[in-house]
Amino acid sequence: MIPDKAPKEDVFHGSEDLKKEAHITSFENYKELYMKSIENPDEFWGDVAKDFFWKTKHTGQFLDYNFDVTKGEIFVKCMEGASTNISYNLLDRNVHERKLGDKVAFYWEGNEPGDELTVTYRELLQRVCQFANVLKSQGVKKGDRVSIYMPMVVELVVAMLACARIGAVHSIVRRSLPSSLFLPLIRSDGFYRGDKLINLKLLADEALQKCRDKGFPIEKCIMLKHLSKEAEETSLGSQSPPAKRSCPDLQQEKQTGRVKKTRPVPQVPWNPEVDLCWHALVRGASDECEPEWCGSEDPLFILYTSGSTGKPKGVLHTVSGYMLYTAATFKLVFDYQLDDVYWCTADIGWITGHSYITYGPLANGATSVLFEGLPTYPDVSRMWEIVDKYHVTKFYTAPTAIRLLMKYGSEPVQKYKRESLKVLGTVGEPINPEAWQWYYNVVGERRCPIVDTFWQTETGGHVLTPLPAATPMKPGSATFPFFGVVPAILNESGEELEGPSEGYLVFKQPWPGVMRTVYGNHQRFETTYFKKFPGYYVTGDGCRRDKDGYYWITGRIDDMLNVSGHLLSTAEVESALVEHEAVAEAAVVGRPHPVKGESLYCFVTLADGVTYNRTLEAELKKQVREKIGAIATPDYIQNAPALPKTRSGKIMRRVLRKIACDERDLGDISTLADSSVVEQLFQNRCCTAV
Ligand code: WT7
Repeated sequence: MIPDKAPKEDVFHGSEDLKKEAHITSFENYKELYMKSIENPDEFWGDVAKDFFWKTKHTGQFLDYNFDVTKGEIFVKCMEGASTNISYNLLDRNVHERKLGDKVAFYWEGNEPGDELTVTYRELLQRVCQFANVLKSQGVKKGDRVSIYMPMVVELVVAMLACARIGAVHSIVRRSLPSSLFLPLIRSDGFYRGDKLINLKLLADEALQKCRDKGFPIEKCIMLKHLSKEAEETSLGSQSPPAKRSCPDLQQEKQTGRVKKTRPVPQVPWNPEVDLCWHALVRGASDECEPEWCGSEDPLFILYTSGSTGKPKGVLHTVSGYMLYTAATFKLVFDYQLDDVYWCTADIGWITGHSYITYGPLANGATSVLFEGLPTYPDVSRMWEIVDKYHVTKFYTAPTAIRLLMKYGSEPVQKYKRESLKVLGTVGEPINPEAWQWYYNVVGERRCPIVDTFWQTETGGHVLTPLPAATPMKPGSATFPFFGVVPAILNESGEELEGPSEGYLVFKQPWPGVMRTVYGNHQRFETTYFKKFPGYYVTGDGCRRDKDGYYWITGRIDDMLNVSGHLLSTAEVESALVEHEAVAEAAVVGRPHPVKGESLYCFVTLADGVTYNRTLEAELKKQVREKIGAIATPDYIQNAPALPKTRSGKIMRRVLRKIACDERDLGDISTLADSSVVEQLFQNRCCTAV
């Protein structure tokens, strides 16, 4: 449980200034409210719900659930019987009731410095309504699934909220398209990340063909031309769409500052049977659209995340609980105030972007920076340049980005003032104390508390986290639970451990934002999260609790890897490798990496008669990239004529991890069937990344 008093030694505090205006001002204040949230969740969440618009009130219990598989089907329901619309709450309510129409919703900052746009709440509402009307005119209805494959542009937020407005379920794609989705697809031509051109249209076309091959025909694709004018005139060439379908808004875009450096643009083949142009469709659409009133437990979105058995899982979140939870966590964890400028550097395609770029900030009427580029382009000061340019007060990024920038020392940071910064956040993986100290001392100049937020795609929002003015911080600890969240640490036999201890991190009861099911496979949902320890939600992470009651995440304890804050399953990478005809067997392990946290070290056993060479290596790399995504690109591939196995034929990953790191102390290997295999692998280790 939470201690009555916060520790006084070896902890860091936020500035006194921050405490003056904060929502939660002291540890005692946090503890008191936390107890209320646990003892009386209906009242606690009921207070949060008062800020929102409900077309009809809920009828049953505020939060109804079963978390115990031995007692029947797992379910969580929040505010059953109520109806609302999340886009109405994020936009109309802020524009009309809260009079925030002229407030900036997003400062869009492009990949190229100087490429920028500003969008107010009123404009965002209009654009969402227009696009919602476009979707309707294309036949999209409540409950339909819409896939979105777009870069970090305002239109991506518009597309998400337009779906939400008409009750369609969005699924943002960051990797090959899951074939279980029926689609209209919204996508963009491409974008630049640093100097690199990413041709989204071609990638999407390939994926669409695969969907067709599998019997899921995609009827419509709406394409946003982001790399604009040149694309219009040059690359489309003879395949360009008929004039009425080309993109007419370029003139207007120029006036708003979206001027592109002259650069190669993607070659985008155009199929008039399927492809529709975003700009042309929007131009004729009305900017008013009555929201579709949705039930609390209607699906809001599906987001695919890695599964330890290999196949990605479609995590499903629903309307009301997710809205309340992302709104409350955003407000309290970043201590959001009306004049803040907030910046989360994550991609919207990840849950961090869903919850803390789109839903949480807009629910609060916040002003955010939406950044298309990279922390290192055009140089490694870019982040701090943007902080000063927009006077960013609350800044949220990942440990991998901090470690990357740390390599360049403090000088690129100190080129900019960063005076506006008040709170710094991190997410995605454990932050090592060195990186924490650098972030705190150099970036925040010892003035800004660091909120190390632990959560998952599945949890919808932060579950373990400091509150900036209330929680004394310890570098590397995600500290204490957020309101409504009850963590426990279990041992291997499923017993709850008390006091200082280490084991499996689980949660004992739901909070409004927890996922509701794996899309199309409720059984997999129960098996993955609830079967190992009946009565608990199992995170898959290891965790330690210290003498002061602080929680420290120790990393995944299943077959998952965390590469730059992105979860990957070893099984998923292995099956991508084995799909290549030259590969008979593959085993993938993580190898510590100074910036990415973990890198992918792959052992491959080739099919009979195939010889290993660089061409094959490159093909394998490409294969994994294409099947899973760039984040899964193998860092090392080692030719393994044989893999270390137990007598019963199980691959000994523990031994492979040692080989990958060149650690000769193998521990107990008495179960190993043939120990000469290990020596051979040590001799042929890969010393440099492929
Ligand atoms: C896994 C969830 C949450 C959005 C981004 C990743 C790891 C996440 C922390 C943190 C230690 C963390 C865990 C978790 N993780 N945040 N602050 N400290 N570990 O979402 O892809 O669903 O990954 O990321 O291992 O289970 P995700």
